[in-house]
Amino acid sequence: MKIIITKDYEEMSKEAFKIVKDVISSNSEAVLGLATGSTPLGLYQNMIKDHKENGTSYKKIKTVNLDEYAGLDYSSDQSYVYFMRHNLFDHIDIDLANTNIEDGKAADRIKECERYTKLLDILKQDIQVLGIGSNGHIAFNEPGTPFGSDTHIVDLTESTIKDNSRLFERIEDVPRQAFTMGLKNIMHAKKILILANGKNKANAVYGLVKGEVSEACPASVLQLHPDCTLVCDIEAAELIK
Ligand code: PGA
Repeated sequence: MKIIITKDYEEMSKEAFKIVKDVISSNSEAVLGLATGSTPLGLYQNMIKDHKENGTSYKKIKTVNLDEYAGLDYSSDQSYVYFMRHNLFDHIDIDLANTNIEDGKAADRIKECERYTKLLDILKQDIQVLGIGSNGHIAFNEPGTPFGSDTHIVDLTESTIKDNSRLFERIEDVPRQAFTMGLKNIMHAKKILILANGKNKANAVYGLVKGEVSEACPASVLQLHPDCTLVCDIEAAELIK
């Protein structure tokens, strides 16, 4: 795994942007695997700035997002589809028809997982952007998720519900289930870019880089990926220096 340690969040976001920009520059029809959460926001701001200042076009770019809360759709400002439009898609020239995310409101959740897995087989990510949970999760693949998993429904752990509750008015409002790309679907990306910042990610980053490769730490599976880069700030890198 390639590791880039930066002095702060701003620098982490710039380094991440350089890597994403390289992919777009070499293939104007690239498939970008994208993530939600606070970690990639700086990356998205850099992408927007570059689009506005340098005209980098996303017209032929396709995207696949990692996950979505079960029960939420664009009508909820807590949904991940809303997040992506608000924080990235509405500010670049991407065709929304080329953006993909699980349908949180799907009537048949099992069928929706199957649909998304099939889609991912066709839209293989040229790069997959990831954050990491304080418990080592990637997307909503919580500890114990099989490495061979496809898109599935998860019951969120108490620690993830607590981490995410800061974005909701009340902790009771955080959905208890989500759709997520499985670890197998993440691992089949051609390139992985995982980002982490802040002290509360230091343990997870240790597990990602130096821990045993084990389903107890989902992110550790990335040690097996042939082209994975971690960009993290000095605080998140505290235990791997
Ligand atoms: P965060 O979430 O970017 O909001 O810290 C990361 C994650 O839980 O995967």
